[in-house]
Amino acid sequence: MRTQVAIIGAGPAGLLLGALLHKYGVDHVILERQTPDYVLGRIRAGVLEQVAVDLLDEAGVGARMHREGLPHDGFSLAFDGGHHRIDLHGLTGKRVMVYGQTELTRDLMDARRAAGLQTVYSAENVSLSGFDGERPTVHYRHDGQDHEIQADFIAGCDGFHGAARASVPPSAIQNYEKVYPFGWLGVLADVPPVHHELIYANHPRGFALCSMRSKTRVRYYVQCSLDDHVEDWSDERFFAELKRRLPEADAARLVEGPSIEKSIAPLRSFVAEPMRFGRLFLAGDAAHIVPPTGAKGLNLAASDVGLLGRALAEHYRGSDAGIDTYSQRALSRVWKAERFSWWFTSLMHRFPETGEFGRKMQQAELDYLVKSEAAMRSMAENYVGLSLDT
Ligand code: APR
Ligand code: PHB
Repeated sequence: MRTQVAIIGAGPAGLLLGALLHKYGVDHVILERQTPDYVLGRIRAGVLEQVAVDLLDEAGVGARMHREGLPHDGFSLAFDGGHHRIDLHGLTGKRVMVYGQTELTRDLMDARRAAGLQTVYSAENVSLSGFDGERPTVHYRHDGQDHEIQADFIAGCDGFHGAARASVPPSAIQNYEKVYPFGWLGVLADVPPVHHELIYANHPRGFALCSMRSKTRVRYYVQCSLDDHVEDWSDERFFAELKRRLPEADAARLVEGPSIEKSIAPLRSFVAEPMRFGRLFLAGDAAHIVPPTGAKGLNLAASDVGLLGRALAEHYRGSDAGIDTYSQRALSRVWKAERFSWWFTSLMHRFPETGEFGRKMQQAELDYLVKSEAAMRSMAENYVGLSLDT
């Protein structure tokens, strides 16, 4: 088979890149290791920046998001028993859209199917060759047979554990990594949210987050130990711990309900540089991971493929300026989101190793933050997302 762009991975990055390339008239195929149901079963964050919303609109898949998504003009920081609102809209003129990654993935899949675009699910043993020369090739096994795709370019959108980054010689790539000494225990439940906006809580027992997927579905998290096991966290234990970490008024209002999903995620910051190797481009989690505080992962995946989609379209119109600057432009935005996610994580979590001094620093910073308009604006500007070219 021959195509212009072979995309590896049908997560949000691969699917959105496919939708954009289709709009730009660039021919492509997506290869995905898992089944569609498996991809849809992964519960991830759900806060979209304006840049991501605009890209989904540009790709023609934003209709349901605008109908069912919840625009949020602010969020709360909870500490010392109180609530402090960060007025995103007042401080930046922008807002964010709360819309689950599962729903967004479903919209992209439906649009793909309706447009008759090719996605090979359950593609096994995907491997890449020739991307350092003129003839990139992707090999894979499907339905018991070996297949090959010849492409002009390969887009590695296959997540942190994918084949694309792993096929780059180690000497050509530099990895930067920080692993945090705790995880997030998350619960999805069909109950009304405790508050109409998100609450990020800093508490001596650890961080907590009250997020939502809709007006009838919540996503709540508590910071937990990396040694914790989901089986040891009954719903009762989870809600009791969450309530202890929230201001009393919120805890009293919080409605509990049976969990429909419960999982523990480790926290990591990771960046691979560069994001281009000849005719192979990395995008999304294949190139970088952020800790979830601030919900930048999906947004970074979207901004990467926004840049990459335009760059590839420009190539077919005769200019390589976009593909030649892709890595540098994407990384400039990536590092700023890495910095923000690391900072917000450091501000809100209990770090066993920093002790009481660390807690005092957090308290001073939180107190400064909510009293300084300049500090709040800086936080708000990063939370709603920097522009595509920063
Ligand atoms: N061959 C084919 N597909 C693969 C391979 C492989 N060897 N390895 C991984 N994949 C697929 C995965 O099954 C997954 O569906 O690539 C996809 C990568 O999707 P994500 O991990 O969701 O990454 P990305 O699309 O970059 O999205 C980034 O969304 O998933 C969240 O936490 C993530 O919020 C971040 C954002
Ligand atoms: C979520 O809804 O899962 C979520 C929201 C905001 C975050 C992280 C996760 O910062």
